[in-house]
Amino acid sequence: MTSTDPGTGNQFTVLGIETSCDETAAAVVRGPSEKAVLSNVIRSQIDEHCAFGGVVPEIAARAHIEILDHIVKEAMDEARCGWDDIDAVAATAGPGLIGGVIVGFMTAKAIAMAAGKPIIGVNHLEGHALTARLTDDVEFPFLLLLVSGGHSQFLLVRGVGDYERLGTTIDDAIGEAFDKTAKLLGLPYPGGPNVERQAKSGDRKRFALPRPLLDRPSLDMSFAGLKTAVRTQAKKLEPVDDQTIADLCAGFQTAVSDVLSARTKRALNLFKERHINTPPVLVVAGGVAANQEIRAALLQTTDDAGARFIAPPLSLCTDNAAMIAWAGLERLQLGPVDDMGLSPRPRWPLDSTNSGVLGSGKKGAKV
Ligand code: KG4
Ligand code: ZN
Repeated sequence: MTSTDPGTGNQFTVLGIETSCDETAAAVVRGPSEKAVLSNVIRSQIDEHCAFGGVVPEIAARAHIEILDHIVKEAMDEARCGWDDIDAVAATAGPGLIGGVIVGFMTAKAIAMAAGKPIIGVNHLEGHALTARLTDDVEFPFLLLLVSGGHSQFLLVRGVGDYERLGTTIDDAIGEAFDKTAKLLGLPYPGGPNVERQAKSGDRKRFALPRPLLDRPSLDMSFAGLKTAVRTQAKKLEPVDDQTIADLCAGFQTAVSDVLSARTKRALNLFKERHINTPPVLVVAGGVAANQEIRAALLQTTDDAGARFIAPPLSLCTDNAAMIAWAGLERLQLGPVDDMGLSPRPRWPLDSTNSGVLGSGKKGAKV
């Protein structure tokens, strides 16, 4: 296969690499005029981390090292690409678990240098933010709700590199709250799918669980107190029986869903105030978007607000390398890129003017 030279045409082919958490992934994407995911290879490390009830950074980094070159080869072979067919190499340069980010970004730099291609250091959040432009041709501006194990935030996406974080969690990310709630109830990692499974046979009204921060006017969220409320109820009834576990899962899931719906309603209102002539669009990304109750609630909320709801297919909604390749491609088409001097970074807010994410503490890496 062939592609147009960088900067001369409107078609690029980019190899993407993603290693910021517990997925080792490589993908080849072509675009922007004819958008195509030529390959999208992902290997999850869930089995390695399951025994510890969460992702262990050191194990993650070692697992990336062991397999990344095979994953890249698989992605290139599946796409039927040789190095000559690639216009650039894009890799996640942060934010994320730094060991894994170093493995992915340094591997990408080495490939770029050996193949004589430009390297693009992609912000993982930008990958999530721009995916809907690959899958659904979404125009700027739009609203993004990112709900994963590491992030929970509303972003106003105005253009490539032009983001405003409207609200975030002040403590746990939503997926993290699902995982911790599952763990305290004795359910396996990853917690989200297991909590959802249990919730199906549970009574959501049995326990009165809080909807944190909903009385505040901002778009910020908090989930640590909700998880603690589940723990407190479970402690009172120890040893908890299966029905109690199901009821707590159902109550927890509905509380999360209520918080997200209320915040989404407010975020859409804000969007409409700011962009009166743009039909409002809500894009949802991240593993928590797999949750059927949450998805249905978000769909209802966007419907009520007269907005369009877009959830990219789950394989592109959770962590993957196609989104990294695509974000690289969007930057490439704006002009030449050379991130050889860029260093991997554990923290990297998309909205660098928002001081809340700088430094450590409650508004730290998770946001
Ligand atoms: O986006 P993702 O695959 O990886 C990152 O965290 O970046 O998201 C994983 C998170 C985990 O916390 C997992 O428990 C949660 O998404 N998750 C779910 C569901 N499936 C995955 N949470 C709620 N309901 C689900 N069905
Ligand atoms: Zn992610």
